Amino acid sequence: MIEKWIQADVLSQPPYQVKTTKFQIKLNQNESPWDWPADIKEIISRRILSCGWNRYPDLIPVELREKIGVLCNVSKDSVIIGKGSNEILQAIFTAVIRPKDSVCTLSPSFAVYKMLAEQKGAQINVSNLSSSFTIDESDLKKKASKSKLTIICNPNSPTGTLLPVSVIEDILNNTSGLVVVDEAYVDFSGVTAVELLTSHQNLIITRTFSKAFSLAGFRIGYGLMDKDLATEIQKCLLPFNIDMPSIIALETILDHHELVQNRVEQIIKERDRLIQELNKIDGILAQDSHSNFFLLKTKFGAEKTFNILAEKGILIRDVSSYPGLESYSRITVGKQDENETLIRAFREML
Ligand SMILES: Cc1ncc(COP(=O)(O)O)c(C=O)c1O
Repeated sequence: MIEKWIQADVLSQPPYQVKTTKFQIKLNQNESPWDWPADIKEIISRRILSCGWNRYPDLIPVELREKIGVLCNVSKDSVIIGKGSNEILQAIFTAVIRPKDSVCTLSPSFAVYKMLAEQKGAQINVSNLSSSFTIDESDLKKKASKSKLTIICNPNSPTGTLLPVSVIEDILNNTSGLVVVDEAYVDFSGVTAVELLTSHQNLIITRTFSKAFSLAGFRIGYGLMDKDLATEIQKCLLPFNIDMPSIIALETILDHHELVQNRVEQIIKERDRLIQELNKIDGILAQDSHSNFFLLKTKFGAEKTFNILAEKGILIRDVSSYPGLESYSRITVGKQDENETLIRAFREML
């Protein structure tokens, strides 16, 4: 019955799911393991309480745009803000893609790109990573040159692979289409394409406050692009998309963001230590990564690995349904004591 209303492209999609269970240690969604300190949460709460809840927030949060502009060293007119970077990606697809348009992306990569492309009836041009998760730069460049929209996750999720900015520049120079670089994990790689914005009108960068900035609960992300492009993409975000509590929370934490850099440094150190320690255990292969997560496989396969760790209260991500990742799990780097518990759990398992 519903088939006559819902588009076939939507009907054929599985719902976006994240397998969960009871846990004490959460290492499945690449969030920061640290919350904001209580005093800062209190400042935010007080400010939210003092606002009228009966009034709409700003149509477009201009001051927040300015603050993000300062953070990224771009003009405020180049910034658009969304309910998570997912909403920015959705607005880009709405503004750019019509049925049969070609969209180029890496595989495996962040599942939302394919989901949005399918919902718009796009043709998806996939550039496959090698079995050791390297990117075939010339294949990506060729496919991007034939696509209306190319999305490159850098560093890539779930593989942690990093593409140098020079390759992104080459791709931008060789296509008449738009290129989106999703920099959700840029804080952990330190590699950004932001300096290419002034020379390349066909570049859009998306970023999020859900990862390094410890703010996944509030749902805020942003896009950086040429200001005329920003005006057009903004039209595809619904009016008043950013709610008052999110505006206040972000404005406040941006005044205290020195905390973030210190935490990022700890995560990078812990990531490298964790990968090294896990690789000492027989029956485990942990992949190097430029992000706050990494891929891992064990001799038990992904499902059993998930279940054994779940029994010990540790939640990881089973990514074995992604193409090319048949036996892999993805693990987010946690706090030092959480990582220690994980290492112990793997030693017991194997
Ligand atoms: C690569 C990548 N891009 C974008 C997002 C979306 O982030 P958010 O909508 O929370 O900003 C995620 C979240 O997991 C991600 O991994």
